[in-house]
Amino acid sequence: MIKIENLHLSYQTDEGMVHAVRGVNIDIAEGQFFTLLGPSGCGKTTTLRALAGLETPADGEISIDGKLVYSGPKSINIPSYRRDIGMVFQSYAIWPHMDVFENVAFPLREMGGRMPKSKIRDKVLAALSLVQLDGYEDRPAPFLSGGQQQRLALARALVKEPKVLLLDEPLSNLDAKLRDEMRTELRDLVKRLGITTVYVTHDQLEALTMSDVVAVMETGLIVQESTPFDIYEEPRTRFVAAFIGQTNFVEGKIDAAANGAGRVGSVATSCGSLRCILPDGAGIGDAVSVVVRPEDVYLADQRSVDGDNMVTAEIAEIVFMGETLECTAIVGAETMRLKLHPSTRVEAGQSIKLVFPADRCRALAS
Ligand SMILES: Nc1ncnc2c1ncn2[C@@H]1O[C@H](COP(=O)(O)OP(=O)(O)OP(=O)(O)O)[C@@H](O)[C@H]1O
Ligand SMILES: [Mg+2]
Repeated sequence: MIKIENLHLSYQTDEGMVHAVRGVNIDIAEGQFFTLLGPSGCGKTTTLRALAGLETPADGEISIDGKLVYSGPKSINIPSYRRDIGMVFQSYAIWPHMDVFENVAFPLREMGGRMPKSKIRDKVLAALSLVQLDGYEDRPAPFLSGGQQQRLALARALVKEPKVLLLDEPLSNLDAKLRDEMRTELRDLVKRLGITTVYVTHDQLEALTMSDVVAVMETGLIVQESTPFDIYEEPRTRFVAAFIGQTNFVEGKIDAAANGAGRVGSVATSCGSLRCILPDGAGIGDAVSVVVRPEDVYLADQRSVDGDNMVTAEIAEIVFMGETLECTAIVGAETMRLKLHPSTRVEAGQSIKLVFPADRCRALAS
C-alpha cells in the first residue's frame, strides 16, 4: 500500500544542511499498523511529512496505493491534497476560531466546493460519530478537553475516508490515563475501518502495544524493522536494545564460539563467563555487549551449587512497585537492574545468587 525507496531529505539551516532522512526504505501492506519509533530528532516527523507531501525530498521514490506520488529521478511530486491520506499532526493543529463541525468539514470544503451541503453534513456527522463526538458539532473547538481535541483531530483526518492515515505522536498531549485508553481505542478504530496507518512515536510502550510492525529509527535511518515481539526479544543492535525496554548491558569478549541451532556460546565478562546467544558470524575474541532484560534474571536458592550463568551479587537498592520488586544489584564491576516477583524477600546489602538464563542472554556487537 505504501512504498518508500531510498528517501533522502535535507533542511537548510543557518548552521548548514541537516540531512534529516538518509536513505529510508519502507514497505507497508494494506491495512497494516506501521510505527516509526525513535528518539527526538531521528527523522520520524520528516519521513511522515515527506509521505504526506508536506516536504520535498532530495531523492528517492514514494508510492501510495500503487501510484507514484514522488520520484526524484522521474521528477514527480504530487501535491499533498491529491494524495489519498489523512493526517493528525504532532500538535493537533485544530482551528480555534472554528466550531467542531467546521473543523471537520474543512478538508471537504477544501476539495473544490462542489460537494452538496447535505453530503458534507452527513460525512462530518459520521466522522464525529466514529470518534464518539456525537452532539458536539456546535461547540467552539477550544472548549473541548484534551482527549476530545485529540478525537476531533482524528475525525478531521478521517472525514475524507482516506486509504492511508498518518499519525504523528497523536497521544503525546494527553495525560497518562487518557493515553492508555486512547491507545486501545485508536488501534481498534483504524483496524475496524481497515485503514493503513503510519504512526510516529518515541514511546516504546505505544509502539509495542499498537503496531503490527515497528521500525526503529536512528539518525535518519531505519535500523531494525519487525513485529513488536521480535523487536523486544531480538534487538539487533545495542541502540535498539537500549531504546526498547529496560536493559542490562555487560561488556565482554567472546571466549567460546557458538554451537548448535541456538547459537549459544560464551562471553568472558567482569561477572565471570556468561553463556549466551551470539550474533551471526561472531568469532572468538570479538568485543560484545551481553544484553539481559531485568525481568529475565532470577534469584537462585542460596543453597544452589554454583553453575552455568550463576553469579554472586549484592542487593543495593529495592523499590516495591506493587506488581514487581525492582532492585539494583552489584555484580562484580557491574550494576544490574532486576525485576523480581513482589513476594520476594530481600534486603539491601544482602548477598544473593542470580541466574542469567543463557537463552535469555544475547550478545550484540559493541
Ligand atoms: N523545518 C526544519 N528546518 C530545519 N531543520 C529541521 C526542520 N524540521 C526538522 N529539522 C531537523 O531534522 C531532524 C529530524 O527532525 P524530525 O522533526 O523529523 O525529528 P523527530 O524524529 O520527529 O523528533 P521528535 O520526536 O522530537 O518530534 C532534526 O535534526 C531536526 O532538528
Ligand atoms: Mg516529530
